[in-house]
Amino acid sequence: MPETPVLYVLNGPNLNLLGEREPDIYGHDTLADIQARCERAAGDATVVFRQTNHEGVLIDWVQEARTEASALIINPAAYTHTSIALLDALKALSIPIVECHLSDPSRREAFRHHSYVALAATKTIAGHGARSYELAVQAALELAQERVVA
Ligand code: DQA
Repeated sequence: MPETPVLYVLNGPNLNLLGEREPDIYGHDTLADIQARCERAAGDATVVFRQTNHEGVLIDWVQEARTEASALIINPAAYTHTSIALLDALKALSIPIVECHLSDPSRREAFRHHSYVALAATKTIAGHGARSYELAVQAALELAQERVVA
């Protein structure tokens, strides 16, 4: 791990609409608010925070994180439930992976109950709204640190 940890926080489709999109489920924070929360929670660590609506772009960024990041936090949004390609990309990483969701998909429609990403994730944090991201940052930093010490 580099001297200062580098956390990649990658966000999938429709998360650019946070704040406007189904606020009863996802809350009122915008993605920019969530980025600010992550940066605050990360302290001195570097946060690389991105969002895309495109599966291939998300996979390119996961591959980038493989060599550039100390840990990866990912909210793949709907790709959580559909993307074997994303799972395969995640399986190529040896850094800690924290799967993060605003809502708790296991308590929603049946088609959200299965997560391909969970098969590669070190830890999953879900159901705390925007706070899920702060908890994910804390977990990612701890997991990255454990890896250095181990
Ligand atoms: C989500 C949950 C997914 O099921 C959904 O498709 C999303 C957001 C969440 O953060 O709660 O877009 O990942």
